Amino acid sequence: MAGMSVLVVGGGGREHALCLGLARSDSVSEIHCAPGNAGTAEIATNHPFTEVSDIIHLAFQLDVDFVVAGPEAPLCDGLSDKLSNMDIPCFGPVAALARLEGSKLHAKQVMRENDVPTADFHVLDKDSNIDEALNDFAGNPWVVKRDVLAGGKGVVVTEDRTEAKQFIEESILSDGRVLLEDFLPGEEASMLVIMDGSGFVCMPASQDHKREFEGDKGRNTGGMGAYAPAPVYTESVKQKTIEKIVKPMHEALSSRRVPYRGVLYVGLMIDENNDPYVVEFNVRFGDPECQITIPLIASDLGEMLFAASTDNLSQLDVKFHDKHALTVVLAAENYPGSVEKGRTISGIPESTSDCWVNHAGTKSENGRLVSNGGRVLSCTAIADTLDQAASKAYAFIEQIELSGSHYRRDIGHRAL
Ligand code: AMP
Ligand code: GLY
Repeated sequence: MAGMSVLVVGGGGREHALCLGLARSDSVSEIHCAPGNAGTAEIATNHPFTEVSDIIHLAFQLDVDFVVAGPEAPLCDGLSDKLSNMDIPCFGPVAALARLEGSKLHAKQVMRENDVPTADFHVLDKDSNIDEALNDFAGNPWVVKRDVLAGGKGVVVTEDRTEAKQFIEESILSDGRVLLEDFLPGEEASMLVIMDGSGFVCMPASQDHKREFEGDKGRNTGGMGAYAPAPVYTESVKQKTIEKIVKPMHEALSSRRVPYRGVLYVGLMIDENNDPYVVEFNVRFGDPECQITIPLIASDLGEMLFAASTDNLSQLDVKFHDKHALTVVLAAENYPGSVEKGRTISGIPESTSDCWVNHAGTKSENGRLVSNGGRVLSCTAIADTLDQAASKAYAFIEQIELSGSHYRRDIGHRAL
């Protein structure tokens, strides 16, 4: 395929990374983004839509060759199903399969059915004895998960019994039920697996940094930075992950009437015996994991995403760069709390082929670049070593000015 046109759905750092990768693809000649941000506007045509019905209409009007879904919410709302009804291929699963992210309980059931290693759990509802359940899981921090899409606020891991109990009660009140699961000790890694009915391709594993401050302290965020490949994901862990997790999941998901077409984000916990367990599934690229994974793909991104949207993935031989990538997120003042938008961003250095900015919460206002969200942008670098990638990304981000903004200075610390 050459000269394809594509519509990317979403407007964060992940979608800017996807647009940058598509802009580098020989197979792609036209990129649209809805709603996009100031970064996507430089390489794509932005359209101010977020509703699924508007996006479907837009894809039809633009007559795009395929759609790439960034976030999970439109997928859970049936974006892929509706595009399929109109014969527009979509990178992103149909709603029934997007439930792997939309419902933690559903994900657990699919894992149980397919013998995929994950933490044991209890489902609690209004008739459950919460104190008894807390006793059953005592001795480690309690892990409580809401069974709904909660925008990253659906999980509490705490040693504070009162906090655990309160979160359980609130969740049962709002959602009808909640999951209490075994605490898994170990080190986390994110595995992105591109899959369709014909096969799967594992991306280099990465590590996100979810807490707000250095040393993994402070509040939980959407992710303050990431790097890949993650050394915790050794060859032996990789083999176990493929055999025990990826293959059974692919078998289950590709045998459906409409197979899983898109990326399965496998959140892994790797224990001291180097055994991988699934902490969560997402049905989309991670953000900021996407920003450092896409640049490591040496093959044509457009061709790969289109192939995965049309069950042709097994025909491709996807290649990767033998390099390291790292991204540092610049967050607005008070993020992950509420933030003020519209502050001027200045001093962004010129991008090069090995160091660049990923726009996230940015927009252009009267010719001025201003903040438009909590995670404002991230600086990404690619290099032969992780050390070099970190030096470049930090040298880049230090020059950017945004009043009150903050970033973590220890991205990649577990590997450096
Ligand atoms: P989730 O949204 O399910 O990925 O959970 C958010 C975060 O909570 C994960 O990235 C982990 O750091 C932590 N977490 C979730 N489940 C567990 C578990 N069973 N054991 C330990 N930590 C967990
Ligand atoms: N960075 C974690 C996520 O995208 O869910």
